Amino acid sequence: MSAAAEQSQALIRLRGISKAYGSGDALTYALHGVDLDIAKGDFVSIMGPSGSGKSTCMNILGCLDTPTSGQYVFGNVEVSRMSRQELAKLRRYYLGFVFQGFNLLNRTSALENVELPLMYRGTPARKRRQLARHALKIVGLEGRESHTPGELSGGQQQRVAIARAIVTSPAVLFADEPTGNLDTARSHEIMELLSGLNQEKGITIVMVTHEPDMAAYTKRIIRFVDGKVAEEQHS
Ligand SMILES: Nc1ncnc2c1ncn2[C@@H]1O[C@H](COP(=O)(O)OP(=O)(O)OP(=O)(O)O)[C@@H](O)[C@H]1O
Ligand SMILES: [Mg+2]
Repeated sequence: MSAAAEQSQALIRLRGISKAYGSGDALTYALHGVDLDIAKGDFVSIMGPSGSGKSTCMNILGCLDTPTSGQYVFGNVEVSRMSRQELAKLRRYYLGFVFQGFNLLNRTSALENVELPLMYRGTPARKRRQLARHALKIVGLEGRESHTPGELSGGQQQRVAIARAIVTSPAVLFADEPTGNLDTARSHEIMELLSGLNQEKGITIVMVTHEPDMAAYTKRIIRFVDGKVAEEQHS
């Protein structure tokens, strides 16, 4: 395949992405010229030492943060030129995000937590409920709809967070250390779930992990060092 054809197939394309913090003597680069292509249907893990820029890169990919310079293309759209409003829209309609700390609303039921992104979209109540129930079923939490996060285990809370991320049928799911707060058995269960979503639902998944055993579930392992992509491994 020609380089041009290969490029046009990428769902996500980062070119020369840099992120600087501070100024003058305090100027530091969290990212320093990151080039990265992610294809539709990909399952990618990002690894690397603490402080190497993994979360910074994920936040830029997930449109939660903007780069200082460089180009980010999603599909055919240049994200690096979008306004805040356009970014919010891209996030709402095409992206899902899962965090290490679950980030659920505490006094709110699992069902309502999962409904939240649909509320931002203006989905009618009945449809919301139906989609949220279905998403909870996919992550194996049928029957736990009315439980609040405090009434669920860590693994179950992360399942709720994953249901919340997939309830909108996103094109891409970003997960920053999704198993970072879980024990080994629960971590493997979450990775099985993510693998299934990738294989059966075709959701493109990009995740950060420090654990080689979890990265082993993914198709590509990208290693960050000092704000750059240092190497890539295919499994
Ligand atoms: N808001 C900020 N202000 C200043 N520096 C920041 C900010 N956010 C991140 N950094 C710096 O950018 C670098 C990369 O941080 P990042 O959080 O992306 O690392 P990471 O690879 O995710 O690390 P970890 O594995 O510990 O989560 C670090 O040196 C960090 O101190
Ligand atoms: Mg991080």
